[in-house]
Order: sequence, then structure tokens, then C-alpha cells
Amino acid sequence: MNLADYIRDIPDFPKPGILFKDITPLLASPQAFGHAVDQMAAHYESHAIDAIAAAEARGFLIAAPLALRLNKPLVPLRKPGKLPYRTYSLKYDLEYGSAELQMHIDSVTPGARVLLVDDLLATGGTMAAGAQLIQQAGANIAGFGFLVELAFLNGRERLPQAAVYSLLTY
Ligand code: PRP
Repeated sequence: MNLADYIRDIPDFPKPGILFKDITPLLASPQAFGHAVDQMAAHYESHAIDAIAAAEARGFLIAAPLALRLNKPLVPLRKPGKLPYRTYSLKYDLEYGSAELQMHIDSVTPGARVLLVDDLLATGGTMAAGAQLIQQAGANIAGFGFLVELAFLNGRERLPQAAVYSLLTY
């Protein structure tokens, strides 16, 4: 199965000049979605991982089935004001403007090895912020796993803490 057949290109979304990688055809195919999760699970099965963390919203779509498949706790990284308990918080810069991610202070234990997962690696800003949050809690980064990597944006350069693995690279 070629997973690339299930990623749809949408020109000029969300802005003119941007070619959006739409993963909804993959989500709509249990075979393709299952295959993607299986492949990622096979890659990380032999890694020492204590938890899987992901940023909302699309990151959850990949991280949740992977966490179940690997039998690991799932740690949600959320936009401000969504998590009910005490949080660590991190503001980070986007191409235009800024964003913030939060994580419950008790969602990872110090020294834990946390795998960060997302649907897409573009500039790396989101996962760099996620990694900083995990490290703020005293935990370590076990790896960065993506469904799709836009390699021409060099996002992996912003993720020096651990190995970057992607199922599809453009
Ligand atoms: C997308 C994607 C990644 C991030 C990648 O999320 O799901 O999380 O952008 O970009 P980066 O490497 O440049 O940080 P988005 O912010 O569009 O939010 P969503 O998941 O809620 O759609």
C-alpha cells in the first residue's frame, strides 16, 4: 500500500501559495489509516518509551491509536484554557503571530521517556514547543514521529533532542 495515495494536495490553503497536505482521505480509509499506525508502531515497538504526547488537534488523530497500539499513556498538549488542572505553558512564534501550548503538570513523571507525535512536520515550531514543555516537566524526549514531513521547510533542524521519523517525506 502506498500511503501517499491517501494524502490529497489542496493548493492555496489556508493561504495563497501554500500547498496543503490533506490527510482526511487517509483517515477515511481504515486500511490506509491502520497501515500508517501499524508502520509507526512497528518502528517504535523496540524503543524505550514511557508515554506518547501530541498537540491538538490533528496530532491526536495519530497519537491516540498509536498509544493504544503500543500500550502507552497518552499526554495531550492543548491550546490555552482547555486543560482543567494545573499546567505548564509555553508560548512560541509562528510565521505570523504566536501560539501557546499547555500540558498538565502531572502528565509526565521526571525522567520519563516521551515520544512526541504529530500528523505533520512543517517548520517544527509546534513540536519544538512540545519538546520544551516535556523537558520543563523533567522528562526526556524519546523521539519525534510524523505521518508527513515537509522536508523543504527544514523543521527537523529545530528538533535536536531526539531522532525524527516520518512515514512520508515531501
Ligand atoms: C498543524 C499540524 C502540526 C503543525 C505543523 O497543526 O497538525 O501540528 O501544524 O506545523 P509546524 O511544524 O510549522 O509547527 P495546526 O496548527 O494547523 O492545528 P490543527 O492540528 O489544530 O489543525
